[in-house]
Amino acid sequence: MSPMLMPLLGIRAAQAAEKATFWLPPAATEYAKQTDFTFYFIYWIDLVFFIVLMGATLLFTLKYRQRKEGEKTSPTKGSHALEAVWAIFPTFLLFAMFFLGFQGWINQAVPPADAMDIRVTGQKWNWTFQYANGVTTFANVKEGGLSEYDGEGLVVPAGKPVRLTMSSVDVIHSFYVPDFRIKKDVIANRYTVQWFQADEPGEHQVYCTEYCGTKHSRMLSKIRVLAPADYDAWMKAQVGDGQPVSPEKAGEKLFASNGCTGCHSVDGSAMVGPTLKGKYGAKETLEGGATVDIDDNYIRESIMVPAAKIVAGFPPAMPAFQGRLSDEEINNLIAYIKSLQ
Ligand code: CUA
Repeated sequence: MSPMLMPLLGIRAAQAAEKATFWLPPAATEYAKQTDFTFYFIYWIDLVFFIVLMGATLLFTLKYRQRKEGEKTSPTKGSHALEAVWAIFPTFLLFAMFFLGFQGWINQAVPPADAMDIRVTGQKWNWTFQYANGVTTFANVKEGGLSEYDGEGLVVPAGKPVRLTMSSVDVIHSFYVPDFRIKKDVIANRYTVQWFQADEPGEHQVYCTEYCGTKHSRMLSKIRVLAPADYDAWMKAQVGDGQPVSPEKAGEKLFASNGCTGCHSVDGSAMVGPTLKGKYGAKETLEGGATVDIDDNYIRESIMVPAAKIVAGFPPAMPAFQGRLSDEEINNLIAYIKSLQ
């Protein structure tokens, strides 16, 4: 085979997944390499089957064509053995494809417990990234000058898992990082989560990949992966002299000013409502016996529409906060509740 064809067929990609190939951009995370393996696994099986099937079709069309007028079709006899082989063998290949795909899906669905949290907000037409200490950055794209913004973009340390908890303040956006092979919708009134771990310093492109209006194509940002020491220095520069207010601290204030303390304790004791201590990440039993995972979405719903899910043993006494709290305030309250471990 000519060396020119090799990148075309992805042969090099199987050996060194880090480099861009004809089909795929560079793979900057372990997850991306696994995804590429799955892609090429299916790709090669498809290619071999395509060649074998099309080749046989062509060959048999020529070999068994009608050669003269009135020639009869030769009689055919079935073969159970042959049919069993071409049913069972591809079934195993499909199982393998399913297994690889499912493994990748699980990997992306469950962020590591020690992941660093960053809140991503999409809006027409910008991305905002908020760190646990309150530092907030905006989208940036200087190359090509496409983005309206010139912020810091998303900056993360190399070798550390990062969990993105994402929501939108208006229409549906989608946070897509080709080099990481991650993409997920960013929706209003609901949190979606994805995570990545980039092991090498570098720069990667973020796209919005859900059409969101006039400047959708300019809703771009960069992810800068820095060596841990460089990241620390960068974060120090962001914090500057004045310590920003962390979402957790802001949430604690909101918790008091909105009267939450009247019904919810933070020390484990039950009041009018259940305590909020140690609840984040746990399971809650509801009126009627169903259980629910206490995550961002459940807490958000319980603040906005408390009657939607009533905790077993408590009266439906909480007022709804829909329309009374901003997205940012709800995010801060969630950060506070999360800290009550
Ligand atoms: Cu946001 Cu497209």
